[in-house]
Amino acid sequence: MESLFPELDLSPKQICKVDYAGTGRSNNVPRGTLLIEAAREATLDVPQQCGGLAICSWCKMEIVTGAQNLSKLTDGEERLREWGKLSERERASCQAEIHGDVTVTARYW
Ligand code: FES
Repeated sequence: MESLFPELDLSPKQICKVDYAGTGRSNNVPRGTLLIEAAREATLDVPQQCGGLAICSWCKMEIVTGAQNLSKLTDGEERLREWGKLSERERASCQAEIHGDVTVTARYW
């Protein structure tokens, strides 16, 4: 069926732009890519100790814009918040999937 408003693209983005604030770097990644994978593809180092199990919080990133474009908080991230290892503005990059454009930053860059 043809859209009544073809100029409006209401479909979910399949390619998402990630900006890494303060680094001058950005990249385009397929929808569903983990933040940690996107950053590494942009040749940014992301520390990690627990192997992506949402225990260490070393991989956390602050979301500057586009928090609504990330997957829902996982149980592991909820646990990190309960432990005080993840603030309201932060996500564990080993857990958060990218579903739209987002700008992130991290202390380790
Ligand atoms: S790698 Fe440990 S919480 Fe993400």
